[in-house]
Amino acid sequence: MLATPPLSLYVHLPWCVRKCPYCDFNSHEYRGDGGRGEPPFAAYVDALVADLDHDLPLAWGRTVQTVFFGGGTPSLFPPEAIDAFLRQASARLRFAPGCEITLETNPGTAEHGRFEGYRAAGVNRLSFGIQSFDDGCLQRLGRIHDSREAETAVKLARDAGFDNFNLDLMYALPQQTQAMAERDIERAIALEPAHISHYQLTLEPNTVFTARPPAGIPDHDAAWDMQERCQALLADAGYAQYEVSAYARPDRQCAHNLNYWRFGDYLGIGAGAHGKLTLGSEQAILRRWKAKHPGAYLASAGSDAAIGGDERIGPERRPFDYMLNALRLNAGFALTEFEARTGLPRSAITTQLATARAQGWLQADGGRIVPTELGRRFTNDVIELFLGNAD
Ligand SMILES: C[S@@+](CC[C@H](N)C(=O)[O-])C[C@H]1O[C@@H](n2cnc3c(N)ncnc32)[C@H](O)[C@@H]1O
Ligand code: SF4
Repeated sequence: MLATPPLSLYVHLPWCVRKCPYCDFNSHEYRGDGGRGEPPFAAYVDALVADLDHDLPLAWGRTVQTVFFGGGTPSLFPPEAIDAFLRQASARLRFAPGCEITLETNPGTAEHGRFEGYRAAGVNRLSFGIQSFDDGCLQRLGRIHDSREAETAVKLARDAGFDNFNLDLMYALPQQTQAMAERDIERAIALEPAHISHYQLTLEPNTVFTARPPAGIPDHDAAWDMQERCQALLADAGYAQYEVSAYARPDRQCAHNLNYWRFGDYLGIGAGAHGKLTLGSEQAILRRWKAKHPGAYLASAGSDAAIGGDERIGPERRPFDYMLNALRLNAGFALTEFEARTGLPRSAITTQLATARAQGWLQADGGRIVPTELGRRFTNDVIELFLGNAD
């Protein structure tokens, strides 16, 4: 039987000042033809609320445990727009006491007074897109901010009372040495964040970097060494790795992302947003995504035309979808939770688990299945074992 897992709310805000050459997220420059302009904040909030209203029957009576404003660059939106959305959303859905509400922030958009406004609106966690503290690296990444602005933005947020914030860093950057990667980690730790996300730069299809790869991208072994050394520095400073790219101080893990990785449910509101909902009465799992382009989304939000697609995840696909998330976690998953969230008996994955254990990739620990160090190095191979076969 499928049980109803915790529910999160993801809100996508799709504009950026400038498109970064490595980025394949649904993000769009809004300054057409060198003009100034600004995104249509108020119209977009109206569209988000209409979109939420349209999805509400999928989540009747449920409580939202976490909210995440992702992008794009959510910090382009003025606090009043975030406040207007949160007020209307919380009139439609119950928010759990202490609900984690995160907003992604680009240091290049930090202004005095902004952070106070976000806090007053109910945001209680920030995630800064820092990427690096090396100005050469930042330039090669096409970022709109430099290291001084990054440090200033974090200090402004702290002065506004935010003590729960994440710093996004990337490594294996063009012309980055091991020492430079370590220096980035040290400068991040000096800002005393609650959480650090440390992503290896990947060349995504349909990006400028893939069309014209920059010189000096560290090779696979060099990237692995950077990851290992940085992980050790983070551990020494009290940041424990709990997911492939995520490190946190005790009790500061990102509740929103943890819900994804545990195969929880989420409503996805906004241009191109993806949602996943367990429909108890139908014993089904629905994935729904929205029209991707901001213009098309604005024109259709609240109607069926804004639904980019609906897909029901059948039993044969569920083990793979579940592992794609759960095996990213250092703590792995409980077999009882696998059963509750996929609606399948554990016998559906007996063969694959046996293979993974024989390879030394997974181990059983009481009722939990936990990736070994080797398994963490070959996460994709382990997950592939579960492709298209529920036995
Ligand atoms: C959705 S982005 C939003 C953050 C915000 N827009 C910013 O960039 O300041 C979240 C994070 O994904 C990471 N990221 C984006 N593209 C990446 C890529 N090609 N490889 C690795 N990490 C990437 C970056 O660290 C980025 O901060
Ligand atoms: S600011 Fe963030 S979302 Fe926008 S283009 Fe750059 S990496 Fe992508």
